[in-house]
Amino acid sequence: MTTDFLVIGSGIAGLTYALKVAEAYPDKAITILTKAQSDETNTKYAQGGIAGVMDFDNDSFNKHIEDTLIAGDGLCNREVVEIVVKEGVERIKELIEWGARFDKDKDGDYSLGKEGGHSEFRILHHKDVTGKEMERALLEAIRRRKNIELLSHCFVLDIITQHHLGFLVTKATPDIECYGVYVLNLNTNKIEKIIAGTTLLATGGNGQVYRTTTNPAIATGDGVAMVYRAKGRIENMEFIQFHPTALYEPGVRGQSFLITEAVRGDGGILRNHKDEAFMSRYDERLDLAPRDIVARAIDSEMKINGTEHVYLDCRHFTKEQFTAHFPNIYDKCLSIGVDITKDMIPVAPAAHYSCGGIKTDEFARTSITNLYAAGECASTGLHGANRLASNSLLEAMVFAHRAYKDVATRQGMPKNLLPENLKLVEAIPNWKSEGTNAPKEMILITQSVKELKLLMSDYVGIVRNNERLLRASKRLDLLYEETEALYQKTAVSPQLCELRNMITVAYLVVKCADFREESRGLHFNTDYPEKANMVQNIVL
Ligand code: FAD
Ligand code: SIN
Repeated sequence: MTTDFLVIGSGIAGLTYALKVAEAYPDKAITILTKAQSDETNTKYAQGGIAGVMDFDNDSFNKHIEDTLIAGDGLCNREVVEIVVKEGVERIKELIEWGARFDKDKDGDYSLGKEGGHSEFRILHHKDVTGKEMERALLEAIRRRKNIELLSHCFVLDIITQHHLGFLVTKATPDIECYGVYVLNLNTNKIEKIIAGTTLLATGGNGQVYRTTTNPAIATGDGVAMVYRAKGRIENMEFIQFHPTALYEPGVRGQSFLITEAVRGDGGILRNHKDEAFMSRYDERLDLAPRDIVARAIDSEMKINGTEHVYLDCRHFTKEQFTAHFPNIYDKCLSIGVDITKDMIPVAPAAHYSCGGIKTDEFARTSITNLYAAGECASTGLHGANRLASNSLLEAMVFAHRAYKDVATRQGMPKNLLPENLKLVEAIPNWKSEGTNAPKEMILITQSVKELKLLMSDYVGIVRNNERLLRASKRLDLLYEETEALYQKTAVSPQLCELRNMITVAYLVVKCADFREESRGLHFNTDYPEKANMVQNIVL
């Protein structure tokens, strides 16, 4: 199969890019691949909303820029921050034109929320199910375009480069090119190769590498792992953001339900088991300090008091006040016996967002030619050492647009589809599966996944130290060896590939954490509790 524009991922980044390219090139073919159902994405679960300067009487681009830089703790790329904040407003307007609905107040103005690290109310939302509304609007817009084909249950295994033509490709190879992907079509159980003029990776985050996460099962860092295997550049993976307030439900594994930070923005108060509103001991911004600070404060309270969670107190809200903004959270809490008007909500931090990822430039270009990356899988320079709340949906749209702008500046046919290059492309071999057999027992995969999540949570969580990182590294080496041996003799399956990808992502997180001999933003190492003088990105 060949296509002009290939998109991997059906979240906000992939869908935004596909819509733009489809509109600009009605005669070209756009193919979107997604490994699960089309709407099963991190995007769908976004609650708080999308940050953007809408109220110019009280807010300004400068304030949003400053808030982003402060949260990023010295590591943001200022130029990128300015691009995202300034261009973001246009992208939000486009989203609204595509059909996304955001809440308004009684005067017809957008009702703006506030979250940690924001100095103003600037977060557009759709109740507490903003992502679901955005995903709905985008998918509906996609279905209206005749030149877009969205193929669900298609698991991308690897990107195709010169390596697959038999050339030696290393990190030092100057012009690695992407020709498309190998994909396991779960509908037919066949491995196909798709040749594309241009490929965009929009594969989302990697929260599933941890035991407790707000991310759905799809978030296994596949895009990052694929680029690393293809010898592309990966950056700042140590900055894993833990959301301070995931609902604590003992026994629940997989995806934790989020209690949006907007609840604290509207006045929710964190308390420990002694009923103390403890945030005053940690930061003058109290419950609305940036996420790294609040998550560490909760972690510390849990350790001091020997508890598995703290509480979010919303008892001062009436049911009407609370459900006006947070009906979904109200229902979820009630379903587990927590009436938020009478009971405090048990909450604990959970892995939530990957600030680092595939290194990209200001037009979403990766270090591999013909390969773009946008959304959570990319490291653009916006978030630095800690993402400001509700900036990621904005970033995904801005860089999806910039990737589209960049492909639009290219002349004529995408390079790989030029007639003289087709010969080369025809030489790309089919996926080799000789010598592999169906897995005898899944336990070899599922147990390794459990071990991986445990070691990452226990050794590479909110607070780290050198000994923990060393232990994590040794255990990862073993998991890597065992999994590679299994991979050589076993027919590929999503479970095996995801395990492999998660081990790669975990390795990259540990490696970057190990290189960063300081504490900054989301990376806190008790052996280096201070910030180093030299501020730098870690690129692998
Ligand atoms: P995603 O939306 O995660 O989409 C990834 C896509 O890639 C999926 O379609 C997946 O199937 C596909 N994919 C992955 N691997 C493969 C593969 N191997 N083959 C084929 N397809 C593949 N951010 C905000 O700005 N505001 C918020 O309020 C907010 N709330 C959040 C709440 C929750 C609970 C969570 C989890 C995140 C939240 N975030 C929020 C973060 C934000 O939602 C994500 O960063 C953003 O949606 C990521 O979008 P994306 O397009 O990059 O990836
Ligand atoms: C939230 O609603 O608290 C999540 C917002 C985000 O991750 O940006």
